[in-house]
Amino acid sequence: MPLSKRQTLTQYLIEQRRRFPQASGELNALILDVSIACKGIARAVAFGELADTAGNVGGDINVQGEVQKKLDVVSNQMFIAATEWSGHLAGMASEEMDGPYQIPSAYSRGKYLLVFDPLDGSSNIDVNVSVGSIFSILRAPDEVAASHRDVTVEDFLQPGTTQVAAGYALYGPVTMLVLSVGDGVVGFTLDPNLGEFKVTHAHIQVPVDTHEFAINASNSRFWEPPIKRYVDECLAGKTGPRGKDFNTRWIASMVAEAHRILMRGGVFMYPRDTKDPAKPGRLRLLYEANPIGFIMEQAGGRASTGRQPVLGVKPGELHQRIGLVFGSKNEVERIERYHHEPATRDSGNPLFGERSLFRD
Ligand code: AHG
Ligand code: MN
Ligand code: MN
Repeated sequence: MPLSKRQTLTQYLIEQRRRFPQASGELNALILDVSIACKGIARAVAFGELADTAGNVGGDINVQGEVQKKLDVVSNQMFIAATEWSGHLAGMASEEMDGPYQIPSAYSRGKYLLVFDPLDGSSNIDVNVSVGSIFSILRAPDEVAASHRDVTVEDFLQPGTTQVAAGYALYGPVTMLVLSVGDGVVGFTLDPNLGEFKVTHAHIQVPVDTHEFAINASNSRFWEPPIKRYVDECLAGKTGPRGKDFNTRWIASMVAEAHRILMRGGVFMYPRDTKDPAKPGRLRLLYEANPIGFIMEQAGGRASTGRQPVLGVKPGELHQRIGLVFGSKNEVERIERYHHEPATRDSGNPLFGERSLFRD
């Protein structure tokens, strides 16, 4: 059935479920609960300095070693409150919690795992730039779903290819929910009159080519040679090897960059670099790279570590960081090619430079 505009999220999910006559409806119910959390966070964000949720949590840093905003904590609570009661979850994991969250004994436990970054880009809250929530739904291992035992870190360490659904909400001039249940990507806009998400962007596709790239250039001295080469070639514009001019964008809110790229193409890079050898990348595999990667691939784009598809990476730990490159397919493939090409004298490879060959 063609996807009609102005369908509600509930209608969309019911129609998706018809593809799987045996489906119990639990996944749909879980996604609807997540959407309620997102509506709550959208309201909390909208009050800004008027609410006592503005500012940092007194001296607190999260397990990532980052300053926690009050809204990070509030958003985390909203995800938990909207979903823990339902009986669909075996457990949760979040950027803002040190370890897995156990479903309290007052509630029954189910077969899904919910993994989320409750507020991405929260360092932008004070300057009123778009932020968002990112989520990923995995199946709990069968034995966990059958025994209802507490979840362990190991239960969450699944490659992104196993995601059942993923999405994000973007709290910008309008609130949007962008979702994939493995059948393409659909964008919903929150109708403020009804409080309902309605289909406004059916079948989102990322253009395969682009002339726009996003990277935090202040890290350029730490980039590896293939990234340096790619950016240099883009900056050389019409007179360089690419033969065309490029634009740059950097919002410092990954979810907002992902949305721009879904709407009009582009490439986003937060690659592995040499800035901090303890951190193989800035963004987190489970909460950021995998769900956004799933959305990109479902929309005909590509998501990569720079070397391999990010969705194929088996996580080693819950809060694992990773290099991430995503967006228009031809550009991401080009960046992967640069990583795999043998070093040449003009590629800027450290093999031929003054800097050490023995990088991480
Ligand atoms: P979070 O707010 O969840 O910690 O994530 C912020 C991330 C991401 O949204 C953004 O792309 C990146 O951090 C910004 O990094 P820089 O501060 O290096 O620009
Ligand atoms: Mn984030
Ligand atoms: Mn966050």
